Amino acid sequence: MDKLIITGGARLDGEIRISGAKNAALPILAATLLADGPVTVGNLPHLHDITTMIELFGRMGIEPVIDEKLAVEIDPRTIKTLVAPYELVKTMRASILVLGPMVARFGEAEVALPGGCAIGSRPVDLHIRGLEAMGAKIEVEGGYIKAKAPEGGLRGAHFFFDTVSVTGTENIMMAAALAKGRSVLQNAAREPEVVDLANFINAMGGKVQGAGTDTITIDGVERLDSANYRVMPDRIETGTYLVAAAVTGGRVKVKDTDPTILEAVLEKLKEAGADLTTGEDWIELDMHGKRPKAVNLRTAPYPAFPTDMQAQFISLNAIAEGTGAVIETIFENRFMHVYEMHRMGAQIQVEGNTAIVTGVPTLKGAPVMATDLRASASLVLSALVAEGDTLIDRIYHIDRGYECIEEKLQMLGAKIRRVPG
Ligand code: UD1
Repeated sequence: MDKLIITGGARLDGEIRISGAKNAALPILAATLLADGPVTVGNLPHLHDITTMIELFGRMGIEPVIDEKLAVEIDPRTIKTLVAPYELVKTMRASILVLGPMVARFGEAEVALPGGCAIGSRPVDLHIRGLEAMGAKIEVEGGYIKAKAPEGGLRGAHFFFDTVSVTGTENIMMAAALAKGRSVLQNAAREPEVVDLANFINAMGGKVQGAGTDTITIDGVERLDSANYRVMPDRIETGTYLVAAAVTGGRVKVKDTDPTILEAVLEKLKEAGADLTTGEDWIELDMHGKRPKAVNLRTAPYPAFPTDMQAQFISLNAIAEGTGAVIETIFENRFMHVYEMHRMGAQIQVEGNTAIVTGVPTLKGAPVMATDLRASASLVLSALVAEGDTLIDRIYHIDRGYECIEEKLQMLGAKIRRVPG
């Protein structure tokens, strides 16, 4: 297992390019299954989760063609089996995203039920109930969700999400794109990745309206056609590099991104004392050598502060001036990074879903272990400011969500290297 060794203390300074958004690329790849012809998806990030999705397509008999720029061409008409096996689903929960498109396009699907994961129980009941509302018959048997569309195909439905769910909204929206009649999704997720998926469905000839609001209306169409689509930039990667510069008192310009998709994060960075300048597709952050000020924050569905940036801001608070409270409202058990950060000298107390972080002037390098994707990002950030060396184990979690993290950080002047293990 590869490890990262980071020698803290370097003040970051430089420019980097932001990759395509993992959380937009995954549903968009799943939605290619809806098309009645070859579809090309570009700006895919080079990440394990994307490879897993492509491998899943391979298992189903579809052979995606990848060009040198990592654009993928998928022809869903070559599908042979409608099964998403457990070995792949257990490594990536987002595999559940193929359920809606398969039932809508091919009339049936078998997708392994994702188990619990490191950040809580994460059920998929809303995905199942949404499809049932469209007339699908669903049984859970032998660890698999077995879904069948009714005679004549799925029917449009009104569906109310009692909890805001990002992939739940995406799954039902994809299914509704080919259902008969109109579907209305209420209390839908408003995340920018939901909007990117709606734009992709519309690029194939779909009729989705209202994505980005809490009510999405989808008029089902008979068929969806070939399309060529470019995935949006990754707002979580963007935010993570901004925090990386902030914790080191440094400066970074992130390019090929979009400042309008992470306003809640930018607000908190300003509150922490960062000087921010934005253009149409770039953001520059400069701390002018200052130590950040601690901030209070509460995670909630978009447009509020994203849970996927919570761990990074705990790192920021850990070395900030003052004390900040971080409240996690989306996932239970999403403070695993805190216990690793204690090993580096961070002063953090967890009570229920709140972490009270009292900043210390310096952290100390230590061997630590990554537990999930965003938690591992926070360990990297802490290591960048710690005295001495930090050895981060189990970095496959980082590789699931951050393209070329050590190259990008090296370009900003960080002392980081990967040791194969
Ligand atoms: C997506 C993101 C993930 C992010 C999360 C919240 C992808 C691939 N992943 O995950 O990075 O952290 O949104 O912004 O886009 N819930 C239910 N029943 C369901 C589904 C969800 O109760 O059927 C609950 C979950 O337990 C959680 C909340 O809803 O408490 C939000 O989860 P959800 O938005 O579904 O997260 P994901 O879509 O899995």
